[in-house]
Amino acid sequence: MREAFTTRYGAAMPAPGVWNETLDLLLAHRSVRHYLPDALPDGALEAAIAAAQSASTSSNLQVWSVIAVEDTGRKARLAALAGGQAHVTRAPLLLVWLADLARLRALSAQQKEPGAGLDYFEAFLLASVDVALAAQNAAIALESLGLGCCYIGGLRNDAAAVSAELALPPETFALFGMTVGVPDPARAVSVKPRLPQQAILFREQYQWREEQQAAIATYNERLRSFQRAQKMTEQDWTGQATKRVRDEKALTGRHTLREFLARVGFKLR
Ligand SMILES: Cc1cc2nc3c(=O)[nH]c(=O)nc-3n(C[C@H](O)[C@H](O)[C@H](O)COP(=O)(O)O)c2cc1C
Repeated sequence: MREAFTTRYGAAMPAPGVWNETLDLLLAHRSVRHYLPDALPDGALEAAIAAAQSASTSSNLQVWSVIAVEDTGRKARLAALAGGQAHVTRAPLLLVWLADLARLRALSAQQKEPGAGLDYFEAFLLASVDVALAAQNAAIALESLGLGCCYIGGLRNDAAAVSAELALPPETFALFGMTVGVPDPARAVSVKPRLPQQAILFREQYQWREEQQAAIATYNERLRSFQRAQKMTEQDWTGQATKRVRDEKALTGRHTLREFLARVGFKLR
């Protein structure tokens, strides 16, 4: 029960007075990168997509789509495009989540509506928010069925090649992939600690004070002991995170995304 809270934050943070099984499931999340070769149980995909479609969606516009990729050759090509991520090939299923303005653009044309609202950055943002909410609902649904998932932002490293591989029309964008499969019990993964709530939960107004900085220092320590226990290379979160945003090179090809989006028809006004 509340052990899940302690696993996530460490013993220093008292567990809340309320709890239930949904919280157990949410707090047990970990990215799974090693799978058994087994196919997904029948109906798991459809159940996950129903969960995804049950997420809130801005003005009920539902401007997202998802592509289920099971073909081994296609998964291998996408794995290479994502920077050589072997788990993309290993997983029996790869879901590719799309911000999709194409459907509403086509419907607007059929209705002889100008659809000018789709020309704004807001439309791209809205579609990206909605597809992320949908994908996360799917992830939780899959985890509730005993399956494991891992988001694959690496698909944005070479967005043009990914679009070509998936035959994406203009005004669609593969925001991220998600590998899905039965977790390999021989490669069990531990729950990764997160920043203490003091660092990210503010009351009434934004805060960046000693309390937040101290919480981050505590987290660096906690992450190091997690890494030691996992026999991983020890590295402060602060160091990891700041290196990840250090420069253009660290973006592994994604620094060109704004131009790419313009090329595939997003107006982003
Ligand atoms: C949008 C997004 C993109 C991600 N991209 C990748 C990826 O390309 N490859 C990968 O192995 N993990 C990827 N991850 C997983 C994160 O590395 C992982 O969620 C984070 O390290 C926290 O670990 P946890 O999920 O086990 O708690 C991604 C996560 C998100 C939310």
